[in-house]
Amino acid sequence: METTYIMIKPDGVQRNLVAPILERFLAKGYILRGLKFMNVSKSLAETHYSDLSAKPFFGALVDYIISGPVVAIALEGKDVVAQARKLIGATNPLASAPGTIRGDYSIEIGRNVIHGSDSVENATKELALWFSEGLVDNNPVLRSQIYE
Ligand code: PPS
Repeated sequence: METTYIMIKPDGVQRNLVAPILERFLAKGYILRGLKFMNVSKSLAETHYSDLSAKPFFGALVDYIISGPVVAIALEGKDVVAQARKLIGATNPLASAPGTIRGDYSIEIGRNVIHGSDSVENATKELALWFSEGLVDNNPVLRSQIYE
């Protein structure tokens, strides 16, 4: 079973989108393994986005992520890495379909509300970075209601 890293970015938090966004993932059947409301240090933001350090928008991206608290989320589920990206929608809101989180809630790529790991490998790295204390074991009965 996969686990992915999801982050509701500062604009999503400030705009009171935490509950509607969480609702989409939990209603789909993903299982919560971690949830934290937190401020992000500059070094944590820079480490998380280190692959993008050469991009012209890197500084603005880091400033955006540290501009207010985020909600860090670990979600478990079958194929959750790829499926969560589908629910999130394309990175640029111009390309994200209505019905997706970014398609419904965002206009600007630099304020696109939410992050989701883009591969199983990156999910593992990001979960280790954001949930270094480990994940919470969830009720196994729940799994039996979601999976055959
Ligand atoms: S790239 O350029 O293809 O590597 O970027 P992409 O994979 O599309 O996006 C990686 C993350 O960078 C954010 N991004 C931006 N932020 C601010 N301004 C601009 N112009 C911009 N372009 C991309 C994008 O939202 C991705 O963030 P996460 O949090 O990973 O979704």
